[in-house]
Amino acid sequence: MENSAGALIIDTMSKRILLGVTGGIAAYKSPDIVRRLIERGAEVQVVMTAGAREFVQPLTFQAVSGREVRSDLWDETAERAMSHIELARWADLVLVAPATADFLAHLTHGMADNLLSTICLATSAPIAVAPAMNRLMWSNPATQANIATLRVRGVQVFGPDSGSQACGETGEGRMMEPADIAASAFAVLPAEGPLQGRKVLITAGPTRERIDPVRFISNRSSGKMGYAVAQAARDRGAEVILVSGPVNLQAPPGVRRVSVESAAQMLDAVMSEIAGTDIFIGTAAVADYRPSSPADCKIKKVSDKLDLCMERTVDILATVSQRADRPFTVGFAAETNDMEQHALSKLTRKNLDLIAANEVGDAKVFEADDNALTLFWPNGGKLSLGAGAKTELAVKLVDFIAARFNERAARPKIAVVR
Ligand code: PMT
Repeated sequence: MENSAGALIIDTMSKRILLGVTGGIAAYKSPDIVRRLIERGAEVQVVMTAGAREFVQPLTFQAVSGREVRSDLWDETAERAMSHIELARWADLVLVAPATADFLAHLTHGMADNLLSTICLATSAPIAVAPAMNRLMWSNPATQANIATLRVRGVQVFGPDSGSQACGETGEGRMMEPADIAASAFAVLPAEGPLQGRKVLITAGPTRERIDPVRFISNRSSGKMGYAVAQAARDRGAEVILVSGPVNLQAPPGVRRVSVESAAQMLDAVMSEIAGTDIFIGTAAVADYRPSSPADCKIKKVSDKLDLCMERTVDILATVSQRADRPFTVGFAAETNDMEQHALSKLTRKNLDLIAANEVGDAKVFEADDNALTLFWPNGGKLSLGAGAKTELAVKLVDFIAARFNERAARPKIAVVR
């Protein structure tokens, strides 16, 4: 579908997540979970227990979720708008974070004495819990037996993490970080969406080009943009393979990561995964040059100057787009100046279907959590995705790619009759 400016209207497909918040100190982190779920394209309905309301104001959740918070099983007005049964049916996933020891016991024993535990009994959606409690409460045999029972019943358990606790002790029982909970929640949801059945191959992060056994040339890419794109593609139903340079990030849940170091290794990994790929997205900051003859031993300081002879690396993106069975090929352009002009030149030179351009600088984009992207495609197409969190932009980008890819796939093939 196209709007009057000729741009594709993006068909976003949101997941409905019912976030249950129970009465633990970690509840102060739950608004951040809501924010991160929404960034990934979810609709979030918060249900709080009475205990949770002692820690955080419902108004906070209402502000971040844009929906009225539900707490009471006996609230006639709210029940008229959407009953506990309708809420249970509405959810694609029920996520309880934090989940206290008391709530886990309620869930294990099928109690229905509050709105949240009643919804858990009445839902056919998957249930996930992120326990948060004092380390002794967590290791208590009663809690461990409850967790074991819940696992057997198919309840997903996220964490808990280990570390310093609000009570001043150190040990296992801390709630997982909000970003990790959001990522794990999406991994539980069935992989369905506009990219279902599609294979998406993505490069991310920097490459390292060896000078000698202890030194290399690299760049400031953190991999955050590429990992967010991988997660968004997985959330839209794709089988995702992420060929990653050295970064400090966990592979997104549900994504297969292939770790590499150099541009040559990245090329090899891409070529061995390319068969059957529907969409290729090059977010990696691949080195354009590498030392021609890396030294076998550590280079010693024998003179005041050291000349390094460099040679060009192979362009992975251009290699992919030249294939007879080329996938829908998307590049990135990282520019410090004249962004549009350079991006358009790469779009043509590398024979791409789409390029996402970002303006980079010293403390800009590289390593940061935020970015701003402008898309260009052949025949003068241009669309600004605006500025925002990389996770949010990744969702918009993947939705746009999916729309263009699916539109092309649906076009009738024209047979040439001689
Ligand atoms: O990792 P982050 O810290 O989150 O930062 C994100 C980012 C800035 C790295 C990312 O948004 C980005 O712009 N990635 C592309 C960086 C880049 O190398 O751009 P380029 O303009 O030099 O290259 C153009 C395209 O060719 C890119 O898709 C690149 O992956 C590809 N390329 C380049 C050289 C090469 N040898 N092989 C390639 O495939």
